[in-house]
Amino acid sequence: MEFLIKQATMKILLATVLCLCLASVWADHHGILPAIPDRCLGLELDAVTVSEEDVPLFIKGHYLFKGFHGKAELLNGSFPELFHHDEPHHIDAAFRMHFENSSDHDHIFIFVGHLVYSFYKHRLEIGFPKNISEVFPGIPDHLDAAIGCPKPDCDANDVIFFKEHKIYHFNVDNRTVVDKDFETMPNCTAAFRYMEHYYCFHGHQFSKFDPKTGEVHGRYPKEARDFFMRCSNYSAETDIVERERCSHVHLDAITSDDDGNLYAFRGHHFLQRDGNNDTVKADAIEASFKELHSEVDAVFSYEDHLYMLKDNDLYLYKISEPHTLLDGYPKTVKEVLGLEGPIDAAFVCQDEHIAHIIKGDHIYDVDLKASPHVAANERPLSLIKKVDAAMCDPHGVRVIVGNHFYHFDTLKLFVGARSIPEQHRVSIDLFGCDH
Ligand SMILES: *[C@@H]1O[C@H](CO)[C@@H](O)[C@H](O)[C@H]1NC(C)=O
Ligand SMILES: *[C@@H]1O[C@H](CO)[C@@H](O)[C@H](O)[C@H]1NC(C)=O
Ligand SMILES: *[C@@H]1O[C@H](CO)[C@@H](O)[C@H](O)[C@H]1NC(C)=O
Ligand SMILES: *[C@@H]1O[C@H](CO)[C@@H](O)[C@H](O)[C@H]1NC(C)=O
Ligand SMILES: *[C@@H]1O[C@H](CO)[C@@H](O)[C@H](O)[C@H]1NC(C)=O
Ligand SMILES: *[C@@H]1O[C@H](CO)[C@@H](O)[C@H](O)[C@H]1NC(C)=O
Ligand SMILES: *[C@@H]1O[C@H](CO)[C@@H](O)[C@H](O)[C@H]1NC(C)=O
Repeated sequence: MEFLIKQATMKILLATVLCLCLASVWADHHGILPAIPDRCLGLELDAVTVSEEDVPLFIKGHYLFKGFHGKAELLNGSFPELFHHDEPHHIDAAFRMHFENSSDHDHIFIFVGHLVYSFYKHRLEIGFPKNISEVFPGIPDHLDAAIGCPKPDCDANDVIFFKEHKIYHFNVDNRTVVDKDFETMPNCTAAFRYMEHYYCFHGHQFSKFDPKTGEVHGRYPKEARDFFMRCSNYSAETDIVERERCSHVHLDAITSDDDGNLYAFRGHHFLQRDGNNDTVKADAIEASFKELHSEVDAVFSYEDHLYMLKDNDLYLYKISEPHTLLDGYPKTVKEVLGLEGPIDAAFVCQDEHIAHIIKGDHIYDVDLKASPHVAANERPLSLIKKVDAAMCDPHGVRVIVGNHFYHFDTLKLFVGARSIPEQHRVSIDLFGCDH
């Protein structure tokens, strides 16, 4: 979204990063500040957790990455009291305590050497940091990783700590510890629980494991950049189909055509799920939609054409092999839909000729048979205020937010929704990925 601004900012950013990098290389040699890490170069993470707001936090050195894309921020911007003590200047482990009835529900615990910090809403709790042995008796210092594991994922409400090849299950209810050897798993440098799955990071790879047994099922390790970071094209060896199907990074746009083929766009790539046999292909956007290049805001299909929106422009492609851009396009979004770009999401329901356009927390209707096109019937979205992508097909409306989607039987039920329906996962439920 806001591509032009983004491009300009990117340039400034690149220049800044370059300067900062040079500065930090210099500083590093002079022992002042370690270099700013780039997560697309293949990091070994120090710690991973989720915030109180469920945003994944990836920690490396003095830096923090929030979410699946974006630049590094200073860790002490979010956790200001870290590194004020005489201790090693990197985090060993971090986890969010998430047991509803515990007094430290949603506190973020950060482990450094023999100390543990407890943060709540980015403030250090009184009395912290404390010795790990005081807060988690039986748990060793200098940990590698930590992860919360509630019942029934674990037999008790546990926090799992990792150190070398050992794991410790700390029972938060009766503060007892059970330790085991985790022979089958690589030594984790970071671990986190995300969408009820348990991930151990080691090097720039990760494995999904069973928290009770430590067993790894399925084809692991996998590359962290493929699933937890938005890094296009860092390696020639990536299985793009697998990466794009299973990525947890949000989609930019999604639509289905009259034959039931599904198209989903993310960054530089798109997925296409065949309407007949559900096979999924992935390719670079540039390979099929050359003029568009990458990073769309919204896509909808109407009468064998794909309307692809990016910033203030609308590209109209005929659905064919290869897809062809119609003469005279791109035109401005304003010219074609009667509304200024950028647009967040757009869709047409089958057998209708109304394009439903979502911009911010409002939705508009554009009658595609009328001339000129005007965006009419503006109304607020009742519940979901930030939509990444949306589509409509004979089953109803699907609204994608982050790596989830919600299903509504009708447009009216979506616009006026009074409660959030069941969450489905994009990777599993749309693309048949196993996690
Ligand atoms: C945060 O850390 C950086 C270096 O790591 C330091 O320059 C800065 O002063 C720190 N800020 C605060 C608020 O402590
Ligand atoms: C929290 O609730 C569970 C059952 O709901 C109970 O087994 C556990 O002892 C409680 N823990 C605390 C710290 O109160
Ligand atoms: C914390 O641990 C350090 C060294 O491991 C020890 O010197 C100190 O006395 C401990 N503090 C408390 C309050 O137990
Ligand atoms: C894991 O840690 C143990 C104990 O430090 C070490 O012997 C082993 O080589 C490590 N394994 C890997 C794969 O690094
Ligand atoms: C603590 O809880 C676990 C699991 O609920 C149980 O197996 C264990 O015996 C308990 N330990 C003590 C000392 O109560
Ligand atoms: C990815 O890299 C390949 C070869 O290195 C190049 O041909 C292709 O255009 C790149 N794609 C993107 C989206 O940057
Ligand atoms: C799926 O169907 C498409 C045509 O709709 C065909 O091109 C493709 O080969 C089929 N794939 C499989 C695995 O059957």
